[in-house]
Amino acid sequence: MDIKITKTTTPKAKPTGKLGFGKVFTDHMFIMNYTEGKGWHDARIEPYHPISLDPSAMVFHYGQEMFEGLKAYSGADGTVRLFRPEMNAKRTNETNKRLCIPQLPEEDFVEAVKAIVSVDKDWIPKEDGTSLYIRPFIIATDEFLGVAPSKTYLFIIILSPSGAYYESGLAPVGIWIEDDYVRAVKGGMGFAKTGGNYAASLIAQVKAHDDGYSQVLWLDGVERKYIEEVGAMNIFFKIDGKVVTPMLNGSILPGITRNSVIQVCKSWGYEVEERKISVDELLDAQKNGKLEECFGTGTAAVISPVGKLRYKDDVMTINNNEIGPLSQKLYDTITGLQWGKIEDTFGFVVKVD
Ligand code: PLP
Ligand code: COI
Repeated sequence: MDIKITKTTTPKAKPTGKLGFGKVFTDHMFIMNYTEGKGWHDARIEPYHPISLDPSAMVFHYGQEMFEGLKAYSGADGTVRLFRPEMNAKRTNETNKRLCIPQLPEEDFVEAVKAIVSVDKDWIPKEDGTSLYIRPFIIATDEFLGVAPSKTYLFIIILSPSGAYYESGLAPVGIWIEDDYVRAVKGGMGFAKTGGNYAASLIAQVKAHDDGYSQVLWLDGVERKYIEEVGAMNIFFKIDGKVVTPMLNGSILPGITRNSVIQVCKSWGYEVEERKISVDELLDAQKNGKLEECFGTGTAAVISPVGKLRYKDDVMTINNNEIGPLSQKLYDTITGLQWGKIEDTFGFVVKVD
């Protein structure tokens, strides 16, 4: 892919102090157009700027859009690393298929990510726990109010130097098991990374926040009985020594961190079960002292210990609301691989020149 690079002549000041998540953006962005009959074209890196779209652009009306999330890490050895970007490229095309967005060559996705990260590598923060969050996304741009797949799109990548996703950092979060609203159903878009899924989640998130919980844990959309995933992460439990997580059933996001955690746990000799988990099973395990740990996994959230799970009138406190040994070891291992502190025997990391 030929990428035309235009650098800014007015670089911005880099942020100082504690970084939050997703609030500051770098000096450049990647953009590429899609036109029916022509394919993806005009790959370019430009100074970061607002985009101008016609008010009739289809993305505004019917939500035909997708996004991804990954990070670049600045290692102590000065090397910049990405974590499994080819998995994000693959998931992009799974999402695109569901949303009738044209396929994007996976090698072009990875090349575009590497190119923009390389141009803005001075923006990768170096403090412990920080990274450069990478947000690729595609929007439908046809000027048309009919409901149909667009014939033109923009693929854009923006970058945001970021710290912990949750204010609390590695301190356990409280999670609200939602028993009224649902996020997705099989046959819907749950497995796809598209804005509509997140729009559907906001009302429950607001309710959970108002009650002092950080995020929502969704139940299946049919029986409202089985655990699915959290607003921005997949969920794992350690029950009676085994690692258990909901299986990929079409309505949850196939998380890249989830897949990595499963591989790492298996390499340590844990039995890992991907299966249906009912809330009743969790309540029972909790009563019998067998619910040993609970944690979420995600690019933004990394490994996020869960200390409290609320379901209707029950509040389960897990591991005394402290980070458990497995959660801590997984956090240390996943971030150790990302920051190049641990030798990558899994083949997860990709270096950026
Ligand atoms: N589930 C949802 C709904 C998410 O938004 C995310 C974040 O990307 C995840 C799970 C975790 O996926 P990944 O590990 O690929 O970041
Ligand atoms: C990510 O972890 O990359 C995500 O996309 C979560 C996001 C909704 C903040």
